[in-house]
Amino acid sequence: MATSTNLFEQIALDLQVHGVSIQSLDLQEPALLALSERLDILSQQDFHKAGIGRQEDHMKNEQVRRDKIHWLEASDPNEALFLTYMQDLKVYLNRRLFLGLFSYECHFAHYEPGAFYKKHLDAFKGEANRILSTVLYLNPDWQEGDGGELAIYDPNDSEQVLLIVPPSYGTLVTFLSDEFPHEVLPAKKARYSIAGWFRVNTSVAGNIDPPQ
Ligand code: OGA
Ligand code: MN
Repeated sequence: MATSTNLFEQIALDLQVHGVSIQSLDLQEPALLALSERLDILSQQDFHKAGIGRQEDHMKNEQVRRDKIHWLEASDPNEALFLTYMQDLKVYLNRRLFLGLFSYECHFAHYEPGAFYKKHLDAFKGEANRILSTVLYLNPDWQEGDGGELAIYDPNDSEQVLLIVPPSYGTLVTFLSDEFPHEVLPAKKARYSIAGWFRVNTSVAGNIDPPQ
């Protein structure tokens, strides 16, 4: 935790001022190395087509997003290392920004050549139990022209591009889930990321929701 304090503070400041943060993890960070190692072990069978919301309309889904995903679980030691790292970030941000973040969930995403994710919000105002979105990129040697950038749009004008982020190894993007429309531009080669969300606790009458 001690070594990541500077990074966590940068993220807190960015969020405080802009609502969005683009930082790079230390490339020797064990949690990052563990993810690369895990990705080498995972096979295509471990990834499944991602859905949108609860609807099961596969035709519509294909028009919106074409990535394949694998949820992280603490039972895998490499995945656990990253989940612990993000728990540390959660504790830090709660102390600094009083966000009341409760849980974190995330998945690997594999975009095959040509895959994309059309412009969307990760949460909607009013029903927003997803508070903060995170995306971490796992692509060494991503070149200009490889596509697959994350486009982040202006919360006040969703046609206006605010930021274009290449999905380069170690880049960590954090943003307010219900504020920033964003989009994954078509990737020209295989693109790997970890998309995740910090949520608040929406427990009612002793039922933990979301389940941990
Ligand atoms: C998502 C998402 C962005 C990315 O999965 O909701 O917006 O760059 N991912 O992978
Ligand atoms: Mn998203």
